[in-house]
Amino acid sequence: MKPTFLRCEYLVNPLGIDVLKPRFSWLVVATERGQKQTAYRVLVASSEQLLREEMGDLWDTGKVASDQTIHMEYQGKDLPSKMLCYWKVQVWDKDNEPSEWSPVAFWSIGLLNPSDWNAKWIGAPRKSLGNLRKVRPKKKKYDPSPLLRKSFKVQGKVKRAILYASALGEYILTINGSRVGDRWLSPEWTDYKKRVQYQTYDVTDLLRPDENVIGAVLADGWFAGNLGPLGFVHDYWGVDRRLIVRLDVELANGEIKEIVSDSSWKIVEDGPIQKADHHMGEDYDARKEIPGWDAPYFDDSEWNPVEVDNKIKTNLVAQMNEPIRKVKELKPIGLMMPKAGVWIFDLGQNIAGWCKIRLNGSLCEPNGVVTVRHGEMLYEDGTLYTANLRFAKATDTFIIASTEEREYHPYFTYHGFRFVEVTGFKQGAKPDLNMLTGCVVSSDCRLTGAFESSNTRLNKLYSNIVWTQIDNLISVPTDCPQRSERMGWMGDVQVYARTSMFNMDMGAFYAKWIQDMRDAQLKDGRYPDIIPYPKWGVNSVLKFYGAPAWTDCGVTLPWDMYLYYMDRTLLQKHYKSAKRLVDYIRAKNPSLIWKKKRGRDYNDWLNGDWIKHMPDYPKSGAEVPREVFATAFFAHSTELLSKMAKVLEKNDDFAFYNSLANKIKETYIREFVNEEGKIKGDTQAGYALSLNFGLIPESLRAKAAKNLVSALEKYDWRLSTGFCTTLRMMRELARWGNADVANNLLFSERFPSWFYMIENGATTMWERWDGYVKGRRKPFQNWLMNSFNHYAYGSIGEYLYGVVLGINLDENEPGFKHTIIKPIPTKQLQWVKGKYESICGVIEVNWEYLGNKLKLTVAIPANASATIHLPTSKTSDVSEGGSLLDRAKGLKVVGIQDNRVVVDAQSGRYDFEVLNL
Ligand code: BGC
Repeated sequence: MKPTFLRCEYLVNPLGIDVLKPRFSWLVVATERGQKQTAYRVLVASSEQLLREEMGDLWDTGKVASDQTIHMEYQGKDLPSKMLCYWKVQVWDKDNEPSEWSPVAFWSIGLLNPSDWNAKWIGAPRKSLGNLRKVRPKKKKYDPSPLLRKSFKVQGKVKRAILYASALGEYILTINGSRVGDRWLSPEWTDYKKRVQYQTYDVTDLLRPDENVIGAVLADGWFAGNLGPLGFVHDYWGVDRRLIVRLDVELANGEIKEIVSDSSWKIVEDGPIQKADHHMGEDYDARKEIPGWDAPYFDDSEWNPVEVDNKIKTNLVAQMNEPIRKVKELKPIGLMMPKAGVWIFDLGQNIAGWCKIRLNGSLCEPNGVVTVRHGEMLYEDGTLYTANLRFAKATDTFIIASTEEREYHPYFTYHGFRFVEVTGFKQGAKPDLNMLTGCVVSSDCRLTGAFESSNTRLNKLYSNIVWTQIDNLISVPTDCPQRSERMGWMGDVQVYARTSMFNMDMGAFYAKWIQDMRDAQLKDGRYPDIIPYPKWGVNSVLKFYGAPAWTDCGVTLPWDMYLYYMDRTLLQKHYKSAKRLVDYIRAKNPSLIWKKKRGRDYNDWLNGDWIKHMPDYPKSGAEVPREVFATAFFAHSTELLSKMAKVLEKNDDFAFYNSLANKIKETYIREFVNEEGKIKGDTQAGYALSLNFGLIPESLRAKAAKNLVSALEKYDWRLSTGFCTTLRMMRELARWGNADVANNLLFSERFPSWFYMIENGATTMWERWDGYVKGRRKPFQNWLMNSFNHYAYGSIGEYLYGVVLGINLDENEPGFKHTIIKPIPTKQLQWVKGKYESICGVIEVNWEYLGNKLKLTVAIPANASATIHLPTSKTSDVSEGGSLLDRAKGLKVVGIQDNRVVVDAQSGRYDFEVLNL
């Protein structure tokens, strides 16, 4: 058995974290069945050398009898700011055999105290007079991105150089002309009044002997740029873009040299980036470039000194999740000219990011403007469809200075697009396909899921789901990357969270966003519907907080984090906050029906009643009554809160909220459920929610499950559910023996359905089932709300993992320490294979029909276990590795449940064959 994949606070070798007792995780891998860890030893040292000698000068746990491999908390010596720590782990297997030591991993502590920075906030002369609201210009004014520079000398060999940086706005740094790190849009998005993140970089390799230069470029970013969700707000957090930097250079002789942002830095306000805004795009004028400005020996005597801003009081915190990076490059698959001089590149995939474009004198004139516009779709005449961007212009422009060929791209913006329109070439110029590259940017969370089947459309659906997720992880989970919105909508995450966690390692990303939630929480306990929440709504008609199923994400997501990653520490941190929400709803609704204070109340957003102009689709009957919907979420959140209390051993709270949850449930049943198992409104959504949240008396559940099927029949076997209930309906159909009904919906090409989107050209998930309908009088839905890159309906991903593949979590043993494997094979597929890299290791399931047999392979990671439900009711119909089930090593037959043979499995790989299907 071997320990591998060492992580600290979810991250591999993080630099500059500000957790004093970070948590370690590792994986143990082994091929032998039933293998497990019985003990571990962790060593933490201040140098690699010490670690090699097996000396843990910071911490040596000694051999600890335990099977714990995740979130093991550091309990060694106190760690000061900037401390670099190395660690490794050794484990003992079930026979008490020690493993080899793992490879060495490391982490470093950031700047824990404001005084550690010893640096100033710097920038251009101040535009605001302190009171931001007063000076915010009516119309957004775009200022060029300033260039800042600082030269300094290094005498002697550099052992290590660590740079810390942040900005109000956004920054890019260079050292001696080379880019520092590979992050984009740093310091990323938080409520800057509460927290501004800083980033830490190892820049040892960028330094040179003698003169060195740090260069910086600043832009508005979320801080001062345009923000959605409806019209724009701009300069919300401030108008003055500021930079703070600290560089520690440790020389081989032990000397430490510090370079910090202060009044000695120089600035030029008019750089080549003339305008940069996330929604509007970027204007780049190469004629304004200053060659060599960030290289050593450049003469900056003409540059101005920067202004030092002593008024800024921010809470600088370490960024502790994956940075936004360029994660992929795509080459166009098509180039069209729908109108003279208008070129359209097709990337073949809807992405979030921007384009690199190669320009030269044969394509465009110096001084001429090349304009690059971005859109998700084309009109039927082949021109670019941008109506759905609302107020976002998503337009980049480039002016070249010389005729030499060079690549251009924007720096401080991003767009959501598949098609790219380029205009401004010389007359007769012929661009070629390869002059443009699509660059995908995303918060770089690791892919942890895989799914493939014999059905190409289903594979496309899976791919569309994952792409939508990639496109919408931009520091926060956005609703969409294209239109003038791009906000962290809570309701969307509430339904999509579990799919997202199957697809990618979301631990660090959500931990950060859950902190953002607490930062945004209203005094009365409600969470805004959008996180971060610029509070422009407070004094206006725009009030975005407290909506059922949106605000509830403040309870559901932390709970999902606990279930998927066993993050108890996160629950501990968040518990009080979640409790404030439930207490608020209860206080305002003593009848226990959530009638009052439902905020904007989006209900089951975009359910069937929103569908217009589709022949024979019912005009009404889809929307679940609002009180039913809201109260269901009230009950659900209260129940989850009681579960949190239990996990955290808050016994009084557990008793209180558990009984409150029961009372809400009783009220719900009394008010909304009749003795036929009918839910008020008789909607698909109502049954989906009530069954899924356990809001139906046991004796009526089977009836309600039947009523759900009838509700589908009423819609001629089409779904009418919205964002919040579609997945829940699919899961409940499967749970109640109607997987065939669910699968008919999944595999249907009839409107409204997932395959229908694909038939109409989707490469990401659409916001609406009928965003674009070929041949309809108006093929595009209403421009105000027609995103082609929205993950909510992608929550069906959880069904692919949970029902089709059969990988399900066990609430009693979170973190997939124990997994419930329960595939429901369907004849619509010949085979399926997939996996989930859980925090406890890789779980794999493959199944395939071979004649009247089903081959099923299941792999359970070492140190974990599973309960496997086999699709037959006779034990004698099943073999494993060619022998009878009860002879198979590592398996124990538990019995028959719901017509299925159930076995307990230790870790390892199992090859089942199920006969007589
Ligand atoms: C967003 C949604 C969001 C909704 C709230 C929309 O504009 O794009 O995804 O959840 O508003 O109802």
